[in-house]
Amino acid sequence: MRKRLIFLLSIIGISLCGCESNGGNNGKETIDTGSGNVLVAYFSVTNNTKKLAQYAKSHLDSDIFDIVPEVAYTSEDINYNDSNSRANKEQNDDQARPKIKYKIEDISKYDTIVLGYPIWWGQAPKIMYTFVESYNLEGKTILPFCTSGSSPIGSSATNLAKSASKANWLEGMRFSASTSEETFNNWLDQYIKEDVNMKLTIDNNELEVKWENNSSVKALNEIAKNTLTINMHEYGGFEQTGQIGQSIVRNDSSIDVVPGDIVLYQGNQISVFYNSSSYSYTRLGHINKSKTELDSLLNKDSVTFVLKA
Ligand SMILES: Cc1cc2nc3c(=O)[nH]c(=O)nc-3n(C[C@H](O)[C@H](O)[C@H](O)COP(=O)(O)O)c2cc1C
Repeated sequence: MRKRLIFLLSIIGISLCGCESNGGNNGKETIDTGSGNVLVAYFSVTNNTKKLAQYAKSHLDSDIFDIVPEVAYTSEDINYNDSNSRANKEQNDDQARPKIKYKIEDISKYDTIVLGYPIWWGQAPKIMYTFVESYNLEGKTILPFCTSGSSPIGSSATNLAKSASKANWLEGMRFSASTSEETFNNWLDQYIKEDVNMKLTIDNNELEVKWENNSSVKALNEIAKNTLTINMHEYGGFEQTGQIGQSIVRNDSSIDVVPGDIVLYQGNQISVFYNSSSYSYTRLGHINKSKTELDSLLNKDSVTFVLKA
């Protein structure tokens, strides 16, 4: 089953300002793209961008489209040291629109396109312009990413966006060829909000939790489909903690926790706090209860923590 995705439309239009992207996600508006209507489209000559595009395809369980040139690029064609090479001539020609071999049959079924390309002389290759100008992308959400030797995404995506200005362009991100699948998927996760429907009970008390939008919570939600029961014990005068029984993805940072916070510790333990503390954790969620209520719930030798999705 395909994942249900919600792309956060914070930075629509990349604001066409040429500003440096950071892949951040500080917006307010969200849209539901429904299920199974995400396309990963990419152009790649030496396979760096292709590798990341394939990570996106597996992570999003999406369709994928390889932007194959009608005339393949040879190694001479992409010799950037030769001012007369095909790639260099195309990049210097505003009108160049290299032809694409295949066409997407029905682009209308996609609401969202994750669009990957290599940086050529600081910009998107001209074939990317052919691509975005070949379709009606009005109202579609486009999440661009690029690979490069060292150059940032710079103005490459904002310039490309001018050729499909009726689409909602999100702020893009540059990656190196050696980017790990985990790093790339973590970036994607910032833009994707999957439904998290876990219910938490502690000692049979059903608790209202505000879950974080991160890959650890999504991983936990998957585990909780088979009900996750953790026998927790009190630790340090501030938390109940216990083993998940397996390791899940984590993004630890040094954080201050307050009563009600639920965190992942070392990737394989969950802690629930009834007093404040500070350490390196990944935030999972927060229980909406007063300190007094949390104290009577958690300030005891042990509790049974149950997650059900
Ligand atoms: C014609 C050409 C121009 C390039 N220009 C740049 C550049 O301006 N900055 C940079 O960091 N890398 C540049 N590169 C390196 C590519 O962006 C990098 O190798 C990229 O990952 C290739 O992606 P691919 O394997 O998907 O084709 C250039 C490569 C080519 C072929």
